[in-house]
Amino acid sequence: MHDDDRPDTGAPALPPGVALTAAAMAQERAAESRRPDRLFDDPWADRLVAAAAKAGGAPWLAEGVTLGQLVPALDGYVALRTRWLDDRIRAEAGEPAAGAVQVVLLGAGLDTRAFRLPWPGGTSVFLLDQPGVVAFARYVLGELGSATWVPADLTGRWERELTAAGFRPATPTVWVLEGVLMYLLPEQAAQLTERLARLSPPGSPVLADLALPGVHTGGPFSEGRRNLDDNGSPTRFSTADPIGWFNRRGLHAHAVDAVKLAARHGRTPPPALDDRSPGCPLFQFMEAWT
Ligand SMILES: C[S@@+](CC[C@H](N)C(=O)[O-])C[C@H]1O[C@@H](n2cnc3c(N)ncnc32)[C@H](O)[C@@H]1O
Repeated sequence: MHDDDRPDTGAPALPPGVALTAAAMAQERAAESRRPDRLFDDPWADRLVAAAAKAGGAPWLAEGVTLGQLVPALDGYVALRTRWLDDRIRAEAGEPAAGAVQVVLLGAGLDTRAFRLPWPGGTSVFLLDQPGVVAFARYVLGELGSATWVPADLTGRWERELTAAGFRPATPTVWVLEGVLMYLLPEQAAQLTERLARLSPPGSPVLADLALPGVHTGGPFSEGRRNLDDNGSPTRFSTADPIGWFNRRGLHAHAVDAVKLAARHGRTPPPALDDRSPGCPLFQFMEAWT
C-alpha cells in the first residue's frame, strides 16, 4: 500500500495475458468519464491506466488506443455494460424484497464499482481476481473502502478463498461476471456458474455478458480476436444459446435488449450488441437467477 504522494511507477506490473484486458476496460471507463454526457464517472480509472502503462507490459495502453478505435464493433460497449451493471446491481442489492446483502464481482479486474457506488448499509462487496491483479489494484487504489479483495483463480477452488474472506454461503448474493466468461474454457465457464449457484439461495441474481459464436469467425471481431490472441488471452467460450446455457446450469435467464437499453441512455447501440449490424451481435447481456 502507498500514500497518494508515492509515484505510480512503484506499482507492480499487471501479470501478462488476460490480466491486461482489465487495463483495457479501465481505459474505456476513463474515456467515458471524460465525456460531458458520461453514463458514469469512474474517478480512479485514469490513475489505474497510468499506473498500468508505467509499470509496462501493454504498450497500447501508453498509446491511448481505445477499444472502439481497435474494434469499431465494440465502440461504446464497455460504457453501456458498465452503466447497465451499475443500475442492475444497485437495484438488486438495494431491493428489500430480494434482500441481497452480498455482491461478488468475479474477475473484478480494475473495476472500481465497489468504491464509487453507494451501497445499502450491511452490504458486503467482494472483488475476486488473479493475485497479480488484486496486488496491482490494491497498490494503486490503496484502501478506499470496506470492499474485500479476494486473490483467487476462478478455475480453482475460489469458493474456499471467498468464504475465508468472509463470504457467507446461502446468503442472498448478487453475482457479477462482467467480461470474464469468454476467457475461460467452456467447461470452466459452466463449472464456475454451477458452483456459484450452489453457494446461493434460490432467487440470487447473476449478471453477465456472454460471447456469441461470431467472436470466433471472421467479420467485425477479427481485429479483436487477433489482438486477444496476440495478448495471450484468446476468446475460449461462446454460446449460440445464452438462455439455454444458463438453463442447463439450473438458472432461469433472460436476454437484455441492448438496443433498447442504449436508446434509454440516448446512445447509439454498440454494433457488437445490435443484430442490425453486419456479422452481429457478438455479445449478449444476460440476467439470470439461481
Ligand atoms: C476483461 S477483464 C474484466 C474485468 C472487469 N470485470 C471489468 O469489466 O472491468 C477480465 C478479468 O478476468 C480475470 N480473469 C480471467 N481469468 C481468470 C481466472 N482464471 N481467475 C481469476 N481471474 C480471472 C482477469 O484477470 C481480468 O481481470
